[in-house]
Amino acid sequence: MNPMIRVGLIGCGFMGRMHANVYQTLENAELIAAVDIKPDVVEKYASDFGISAYTTLEAMLASEQIDAVDVCLPTYLHKEFTVAAAKAGKHVFCEKPMAMSLTEADEMIAACTEAGVQLMIGHCIRFWPEYAILKQITASKKFGELLSVNLTRYGAFPTWSSEDWLSDVTKSGGGVLDMHIHDTDYIHYLLGNPDEIHSWGTVDAKGPSQVFTTMKFGKAIAHLEGGWNLPSGTPFKHAFRAIFERGAAIMDVGPLTIYEGGKEPHVPEIPKMEAAGGGNISDLGGYYHELKYFADRLTNGQPFETVTPQTSRVSLATTLEEIRQMSA
Ligand SMILES: NC(=O)c1ccc[n+]([C@@H]2O[C@H](COP(=O)([O-])OP(=O)(O)OC[C@H]3O[C@@H](n4cnc5c(N)ncnc54)[C@H](O)[C@@H]3O)[C@@H](O)[C@H]2O)c1
Repeated sequence: MNPMIRVGLIGCGFMGRMHANVYQTLENAELIAAVDIKPDVVEKYASDFGISAYTTLEAMLASEQIDAVDVCLPTYLHKEFTVAAAKAGKHVFCEKPMAMSLTEADEMIAACTEAGVQLMIGHCIRFWPEYAILKQITASKKFGELLSVNLTRYGAFPTWSSEDWLSDVTKSGGGVLDMHIHDTDYIHYLLGNPDEIHSWGTVDAKGPSQVFTTMKFGKAIAHLEGGWNLPSGTPFKHAFRAIFERGAAIMDVGPLTIYEGGKEPHVPEIPKMEAAGGGNISDLGGYYHELKYFADRLTNGQPFETVTPQTSRVSLATTLEEIRQMSA
């Protein structure tokens, strides 16, 4: 067992910083170098986190001994850099969505398989504590069968992206591929593959920006709603309401609350841990738990199970089907 994985990260923007914050708290993964196409961005990032800076992946790979590459690049670059990292023999953690198309996803899977390296896509909602509790309740059948579930995710259009790549549908896929895919991925995790799927939505200048999808899984019904076309200043929100034969789990206006007929509502305690450099890991939510899982599994020589390249490909395929239906 290798007790520590050495990570090089590419893409020092919003998610690159989020991941660096997580690495500071992990005992078995160390961020040692970073790459960004913008020299000023990577130099500031490297100085903030005390690591080496590069402006190309090749330069980092030539100079640093690393075990894994963490890809936090705009989505249209995921395939190119995942394949390059795999060919260099590095494990890859790549942000969601996996890629822009199934062809790209297949190339990523093939490159990693051929190189004998592991690939994990950052489907963080599977690791988000409240959503992990809902998965546990559903799988245990503690309250009987799940009858219905609503998953909601919306906010104003994110304005932080470099060169405004998020507003270019050919680079981001629009709000449905970029943001709503979180819930599409989660519903697969919760209930498997749907028997039926029907989507409607809104397409604007930034592409498919809002979607309403209804899915059937046997008798269970799921309704997913997501979009980034709300007025600027609208706070981001993610929420769910799951109704079981003998209970309900609701995360909406307040914290996750579990309701069971005849009992007091229960608010599960979400463990809070102090980060090494101060701050609170709970602020990092699923981002902390997914990277911890990535590092734990690699250092223990175990395969990924909670999220695999194949589950991420399925989530991409379903989201692309939602986009096809809503755009028809
Ligand atoms: N898991 C989540 O909740 C979540 C949240 C936000 C974003 N994301 C995903 O993370 C990824 C990155 O998004 P972001 O918001 O951090 O974007 P960003 O624009 O903030 O950061 C991207 C960085 O990549 C750099 N870059 C661009 N092209 C490059 C190249 N060829 N070589 C090296 N560096 C290059 C840019 O200079 C920028 O610093 C996207 O796939 C996005 O969908 C995931």
